[in-house]
Amino acid sequence: MPRKLITGNWKMNGLVSDLSEITAMAAAAQDAGAEAALCPPATLIDRAVTITKGTKLLIGGQDCHANSSGAHTGDVSAQMLADIGATYVILGHSERRADHGETSATVAAKASAAYRAGLNAIICVGETEGERASGATLAVVEEQLQASLPEGASAANTTIAYEPVWAIGTGRVPTEEEIAEVHAALRAALSKRFEAEANDIRLLYGGSVKPSNARSIFSIPGVDGALVGGASLKASDFISILSAASGS
Ligand code: PGA
Repeated sequence: MPRKLITGNWKMNGLVSDLSEITAMAAAAQDAGAEAALCPPATLIDRAVTITKGTKLLIGGQDCHANSSGAHTGDVSAQMLADIGATYVILGHSERRADHGETSATVAAKASAAYRAGLNAIICVGETEGERASGATLAVVEEQLQASLPEGASAANTTIAYEPVWAIGTGRVPTEEEIAEVHAALRAALSKRFEAEANDIRLLYGGSVKPSNARSIFSIPGVDGALVGGASLKASDFISILSAASGS
């Protein structure tokens, strides 16, 4: 199995005055046993790349357009992200799916663009509270997974994040058994499509990961790291999650 990956997602948070947090994270990433990445808002990516140059903290975007350029006011392309030194891009986050009507087909088109630009796509899937209550969780995430992964997806260019919508930013986290069950189902679906290579595709958990629950989440079989929102805004929290993933 690959080493665990901790990815911070700053969402629409972070000003130039917060760059010192990124400097501190980069310092901690140097001798961490797990890999670290951070997806700041688009406005900070260029500076984040500059201040993390030569460190092990990789920088990513939170979304990209499916086209590489053109008349798409307000959008950023995968090629543009790669051009300024980003290496990851989060795609299909539930906030994008809900706020911007992104379907899995949209996500797949964006992932193709990410691959063309040489980015690693962190593709998010997850059920709503209602879907879990009705017993549809596995069907929903498997369908999202299949429909969001385009031709050309591989272990080298794809990371999957299981993020139950109801656990994002709420402080509520599924039980260890629930997380293990979904990760096993996603791994099985990946194995069907990618055979042995599926074992090298990282499966992150996301949704209210914080320093106090990180160690137990990382001990769940099949969890290869985390996508962290709120707790990635402060370097101290991010670093303690990173060290939990490093087993130290
Ligand atoms: P959270 O967000 O850690 O604040 O719950 C996770 C995410 O949305 O990626």
